[in-house]
Amino acid sequence: MKLQGNVTIITGAGQGIGEAYAHRFTEEGARVAVADINREKGEAVTAALRAKGGDAIFVPVDVSSEDDTRKMAQTVVDRWGRIDTLIANAAIFYDIDNTNHSYAYLRKIFDVNFFGVWLSARACYPFMKRQGKGSIITQSSGAAYMHPYVQHDDELPSFHYSITKASISALTHLIAGAGGMAGVRCNAISPGPTMTEATKKTVPEEIMQYIVGVMMALKRPLQPEDLTGAAVFLASEESAMITGQVICVDGGMIMLG
Ligand SMILES: NC(=O)c1ccc[n+]([C@@H]2O[C@H](COP(=O)([O-])OP(=O)(O)OC[C@H]3O[C@@H](n4cnc5c(N)ncnc54)[C@H](O)[C@@H]3O)[C@@H](O)[C@H]2O)c1
Repeated sequence: MKLQGNVTIITGAGQGIGEAYAHRFTEEGARVAVADINREKGEAVTAALRAKGGDAIFVPVDVSSEDDTRKMAQTVVDRWGRIDTLIANAAIFYDIDNTNHSYAYLRKIFDVNFFGVWLSARACYPFMKRQGKGSIITQSSGAAYMHPYVQHDDELPSFHYSITKASISALTHLIAGAGGMAGVRCNAISPGPTMTEATKKTVPEEIMQYIVGVMMALKRPLQPEDLTGAAVFLASEESAMITGQVICVDGGMIMLG
């Protein structure tokens, strides 16, 4: 086991990639806080982790609420005494409206997909700093590095999802820079197209075929489990000297460097 006793908060662990992280971290011996806005799904994942022998709790949270994120961090410290890893994975993706380019909707997406990460990191940071150690893992996206054509009228599109994910990569560098003196690392995982229910709902089949067939070096979409190895690595001592990086786990779709 690579993460024995590691206390990990995973936001958006009620389904999809976050759920896969929660299972893998449990299998690696971590104590996992399943933090999600969806109580029913979060509790179901928590029950499944416990059923396989894991030490897991459900923490209800709306990551766009400062109050909620502070309570989330405090709840975990009250329970296990520390926070070793935060995976700030929650985002509006399943329910995203790709036809809404209004300023109001852009701000709503920013509230969750960007400020939700900032707030979650901010809430956990003081505890990690006190420990002199911690790993914050953010969740960017290949969408941060692409500029696909977006149908629009006279006005510019809002670029809502892509721009929040690009901002996550920038935030990751800034947290890493600030946290280094305290021993707090911050890295981003940038997934390629991953076959969650959200992707099946939001990405049209023909676009998926194009991405896989033309844009990806390894010609298959990811499964949520394909992302878990990078998260375990970034949470573990194996990556002790890695911070401020964006790790693309995307079958060779985006090649940074
Ligand atoms: N699936 C992909 O292809 C893909 C690719 C690149 C990046 N990503 C990113 O990976 C992450 C997970 O993707 P997914 O496909 O599993 O998405 P998903 O929509 O299936 O899961 C998101 C989870 O976040 C939770 N959530 C939403 N708003 C919340 C809030 N305000 N507070 C707390 N929890 C909230 C949801 O309840 C859900 O459990 C997201 O950050 C997404 O942007 C996904």
